[in-house]
Amino acid sequence: MDNKKTEYIENPDLFKNAGNPKGELGNELLDWMTINHENLAKWGISHLEITEEDVILDIGCGSGVNIERFLKMTENKVCGIDYSHLAVKRSVQLNQKAIDEGRCEITECSVSAMPFDDALFDIATAFETVYFWPDIVNDLREVRRVLKDDGVILICNEAVPKEDDGRQKELSELLGMTIYSEDELDENLRHAGFSEVISFLKEGHDSVTDETVTWLCVIARK
Ligand SMILES: C[S@@+](CC[C@H](N)C(=O)[O-])C[C@H]1O[C@@H](n2cnc3c(N)ncnc32)[C@H](O)[C@@H]1O
Repeated sequence: MDNKKTEYIENPDLFKNAGNPKGELGNELLDWMTINHENLAKWGISHLEITEEDVILDIGCGSGVNIERFLKMTENKVCGIDYSHLAVKRSVQLNQKAIDEGRCEITECSVSAMPFDDALFDIATAFETVYFWPDIVNDLREVRRVLKDDGVILICNEAVPKEDDGRQKELSELLGMTIYSEDELDENLRHAGFSEVISFLKEGHDSVTDETVTWLCVIARK
């Protein structure tokens, strides 16, 4: 598949899988996202200080590539969740060795009700997924619940609201996604009980997609 986003979003049947990958097209889109979200994810992660002891949760883990990345950054446990059966299957395949070693767990569930005890994780990450969460403030409260007392959440999005962008409107309607501004994420995080919210915006050129991008990364503390 061509890396160019413009070409992939021309195929609505494929693109619709972004919110819940299923079947053959879901597999194709997970492959595409693995490549095309790489620079965004690396940029987002560069704002975190990850130590070898950190226990990490990746929410909406997709193909599991960020779980694989985190397993190289901590010696502790990395968990992933996704409500897509296919995404969980792919994430398990990719991280099977770490699962067998007891260092990784991948669970099929919604962010709205995660089967974890309170205060388990040092870091929770959400790459390209909050757009699809059904009730952002309550879902962020659920993330906050599973974080340790000084734990942090990282939200990383490549879609930021653009005025008069008909294409963006069309796509967000197609997918039923909500595109949040920096301020909206800040407000939602604070409503959910987070503090020390900081945001980073990057405008530039993505060498993978060969396109101009605006990336948003927001970090907040429990
Ligand atoms: C656009 S994909 C991003 C995947 C991956 N994080 C990445 O950056 O490539 C969004 C992922 O979030 C998952 N997702 C969306 N809403 C979710 C929810 N409420 N609970 C759990 N997973 C969710 C989807 O199934 C999908 O795998």
